[in-house]
Amino acid sequence: MGMHGDEAGDEAGGGTGGGTAMTARAAGPLTGDATVPGDKSVSHRALILGAMTVGETRIDGLLEGQDVLDTARAMQALGAEVVAHGDGAWSVHGVGVGGLREPDRVIDCGNSGTGVRLLMGAVATHDMAVTFTGDASLTGRPMGRVTAPLALFGARAVGRSAGRLPLTLVGAAEPVPVRYTVPVPSAQVKSAVLLAGLNAPGRTVVIETVATRDHTERMLAGFGADLTVADEGGLRVITLRGQPELRPQVIAVPCDPSSAAFPVCAALIVPGSDVRVPGIGLNPTRAGLFETLREMGADLTYENERLEGGEPVADLRARFSPDMRGIDVPPSRAASMIDEYPVLSVVAAFAAGRTTMREVAELRVKESDRIDAMATGLRACGVTVEDGPDWWAVEGRGPGDVAGGTAVAARLDHRIAMAFLVLGMASARPVTVDDASPIATSFPAFARLMTGLGASLGTDAGARW
Ligand code: S3P
Repeated sequence: MGMHGDEAGDEAGGGTGGGTAMTARAAGPLTGDATVPGDKSVSHRALILGAMTVGETRIDGLLEGQDVLDTARAMQALGAEVVAHGDGAWSVHGVGVGGLREPDRVIDCGNSGTGVRLLMGAVATHDMAVTFTGDASLTGRPMGRVTAPLALFGARAVGRSAGRLPLTLVGAAEPVPVRYTVPVPSAQVKSAVLLAGLNAPGRTVVIETVATRDHTERMLAGFGADLTVADEGGLRVITLRGQPELRPQVIAVPCDPSSAAFPVCAALIVPGSDVRVPGIGLNPTRAGLFETLREMGADLTYENERLEGGEPVADLRARFSPDMRGIDVPPSRAASMIDEYPVLSVVAAFAAGRTTMREVAELRVKESDRIDAMATGLRACGVTVEDGPDWWAVEGRGPGDVAGGTAVAARLDHRIAMAFLVLGMASARPVTVDDASPIATSFPAFARLMTGLGASLGTDAGARW
């Protein structure tokens, strides 16, 4: 097998579903440097595309969170050789485009929507049957958004009602290229279609009405695929020529802006804080949160701006910001900060005035219904929240006036767990998250890193409110 990453997921409570409660309480200021792990989106893609080349792809800074480890294991089951060398250094010996083999067991993607949807795309144009499953969160999430375009290539899917996992995908024996307009803003759907298009003859065209994260396009081009992106009357038109020979790469994974969001937002709301988060990828399709925070009046600066591996990177410096104001977050920015709304809503609770977040229906089909999970927990913490099908609004209480003093449900969602622990670092009374173990899916070192900055986090469930 070669992998020895299993232990990587243990720090926040040992894998998903363990039910490890964690409590955050206000302590002194947060200060110092916080190096966050590699980007989750880039890590999944590096393993999958590495498996589709002939030869060795080397990856540095891979996120060794459970979601990515599950994808690594899946690529092995599909025939690639995946080896962990320690400390985020990995190598993948691929099988070439069209060379994946039928696995002899069910592929379990755990908690990862990105993992399962990208993998479904990769196998959809291979003449084989693959059965996918996941945890209690993933088996509740919609898969029809991916199986519908994959059917156009000739793949067939049989799943539970509403296309949910477990699901068996029978790949197309003779795939045809596809032209597909993605109906919801989803990088996972876009990427699944592009990965399927890799092993279809001719040109596959994917059209986005809303631009989403573009790591798949950038990485495909880096691996030598013939891929063009054109703006046609406001539409983003991606054209990929199928059946290329991909060349192995050396990939340096930038640090994850979605993980950086937690120490950054904590520093903004904990009095006296001054935190530096180095080497953060600031691809414009991912950096919407930081723009929003600055508009709210956050003391957040970019230091040492540079290009690394073709991606803009900077060190983020965040200081306590007692004068933040609520804003109306521009809906056009939603895709570039879609995973950051939970922690933004926490910052909004400590700002003055109302923060409104519109056109974010996608938040209802993430690892949990994130609008409902945050609204319920924020209300329990003494914050007024209004919500509708595709919007929500938080009434800020200003710095130092969020009560806390309660336990909230993480709902098997890493970002909900981390968002409420950040809240508990600045609220008047402690906040307990019922199950911190999902944090290991994306940010295994979260508790250690935040404690290193001065936060008080404990697994003592019996908080004294
Ligand atoms: C991701 C895309 C987004 C995001 C997820 C990662 C990706 O999901 O929420 O965390 O790596 O492609 P959608 O494609 O559902 O928007």
